[in-house]
Amino acid sequence: MVLSILQGFVVLEGLDGAGTTTQMRLLCERLDREGRAHAGTFEPTEGPVGRLIRSILARRVMALPLTVAMLFAADRHQHLAGPDGVIERANRGELVVSDRYLFSSLAYQSIECGFKRVLDLNEGFPLPELLVFLDTPVAVSQARLDRRTHRELYDGAGFQARVREGYLQAIEHFEGSGMRVLVLDGNRPADEIHEAVWTETARLPIHKV
Ligand code: TMP
Repeated sequence: MVLSILQGFVVLEGLDGAGTTTQMRLLCERLDREGRAHAGTFEPTEGPVGRLIRSILARRVMALPLTVAMLFAADRHQHLAGPDGVIERANRGELVVSDRYLFSSLAYQSIECGFKRVLDLNEGFPLPELLVFLDTPVAVSQARLDRRTHRELYDGAGFQARVREGYLQAIEHFEGSGMRVLVLDGNRPADEIHEAVWTETARLPIHKV
C-alpha cells in the first residue's frame, strides 16, 4: 500500500479532455506571480520511458496491458527519484505540481490489469499532499476531444466512463491516508476551477528546508 505523503507535492487528475493541462498552466502562472518557488511537471514524462509510452498511446508501438502498466510505473519511478525529480525538488522547498500521477494508473490500467495489480506496481511511491480531481462529465470531455485530429489508445466514451469509476475507486481507497482530496466539477469555467484550486493550494504550508 502506498502511504507516505510527500509534502509540497500537488497532483492534478482527470479524464482525457478534463482540463488538467489548462489548470496546471494557470496554477503555475499564479505561483509565478506570487513568487512561490515551484516546478510544473507531468506524466508520462519526456524521458526515454515516457517517450516509449507516448508511442504506445499513439498506437505506433504495440504492448500488452500489463507491460504498459509496468512502463507507467517505471516512468514514475524515474520522475520521482531521478535527478532533479519530484522528490528532490519538493525536498528543497519547491511546490511541485504534476499533471497526472499514480491515480491515472489506478484509473486507466486497472481496467485491463485489475486495481490490486496496479496498486502493487506502484507500491512505495509517495502520495501527494493534495490531489485535485477534475470531475468532468464524460460527454463534455469527449466533446472537447472530438476536436482533436488524432486518435489515442484510450479514446472512447465507454472506456472513459470506466476510467471515471476507477478514479472514484482510487480516491475511496486512499481515504484516511492524510492526503487532501479536492473533487471539482470540471464543467465549470476554467477560471472558477482555478480559483478553487488556488484557494486549496495557497493553504498548503510552506515547508522549510
Ligand atoms: P495526456 O498527456 O493528455 O495527459 O495523456 C496521457 C494519457 O496517458 C492519458 O490518456 C492518460 C494516460 N495515462 C495512463 O493511462 N496511465 C498513467 O499512469 C498516466 C500517467 C497516464
